[in-house]
Amino acid sequence: MQYSAKVMDHFANPRNVGEVAEADGVGEVGNPACGDIMKMSIKVKDNVIVDAKFKTFGCGAAIATSSISTEMIIGKTLDEALRLTNKAVAEALDGLPPAKMHCSVLAEEAIEAAIDDYLKKTTGKGLEKKKGH
Ligand code: FES
Ligand code: FES
Repeated sequence: MQYSAKVMDHFANPRNVGEVAEADGVGEVGNPACGDIMKMSIKVKDNVIVDAKFKTFGCGAAIATSSISTEMIIGKTLDEALRLTNKAVAEALDGLPPAKMHCSVLAEEAIEAAIDDYLKKTTGKGLEKKKGH
C-alpha cells in the first residue's frame, strides 16, 4: 500500500487537532466498516466556518483526511463546506490507496454532522438529506 507524501505529512503532523472553544456545532460519526470514530467541531460566524478542529480515533488515512478537511473548510460558507466530497479530500492529499478510500468518508460525514448540529441549534431544523455512502 502506497501513501502520498501529503498523506504522510498530515498523518505525522495533523492540523487543527482538538476541539474549538465554545463550538457552534459538533458532529461525531463512526465508520461501520472498521469502527473508527471522528469528532468535528466548528465555529461559525455569518454563515462562514471560521474555525474547525477534529479528534479522530482511527487509522492514518482517517487522521490525514480529517486534518486536511479542516484546512479545506475553514473560511468556507456552510454551503461550500457541505459540497466538499470525500473524493475532493482524497484528491487534495494526492490520492489514497483504493482500499483506504472509505476512510475519507468519515471526514465528509463529520463535517456534515457538525453543520447539521449547528443548524439544529440555530434554526431548530437540521439538514434535509443524508447522502448515505
Ligand atoms: Fe467503508 Fe463504507 S464504511 S466502505
Ligand atoms: Fe477505519 Fe480507515 S480503517 S477509517
